[in-house]
Amino acid sequence: MARYDVTLDRVGGPTRTIEVDEDETVLEASRRSGIPLPYGCRTGACGTCVGRLLAIEGAESGGGATDADGAPIDVADAFAYRREPRALKPRHRNDGYVLLCIARPRANSRVAVGSRVQTELVDNPWK
Ligand code: FES
Repeated sequence: MARYDVTLDRVGGPTRTIEVDEDETVLEASRRSGIPLPYGCRTGACGTCVGRLLAIEGAESGGGATDADGAPIDVADAFAYRREPRALKPRHRNDGYVLLCIARPRANSRVAVGSRVQTELVDNPWK
């Protein structure tokens, strides 16, 4: 069974790399590794577990979902979903957002996580 390194890059916090089996989700692997990640439904419906793909192996992104040559990084190159990611609109997927509760790795990658990423995805109705 293949295993991949997924680096969780927490804005303002520690960066940790975890090994994720190809048939487990990033959230499952993080829990197994004792690294807390936020989650809610665990079915791809709420968006609580969202991260943003920054890089796949050697392909770096400058903040959007593009590689060093400006070509888009496709989340599908890094992750396969266990089920439909209902919390993400097509534009979110194009911008590199990924639901870590249902995402199984297909490559070594680096993902931004934390409340700032959630804030990017979900509009705050109170502001
Ligand atoms: S925990 Fe709800 S979408 Fe992942």
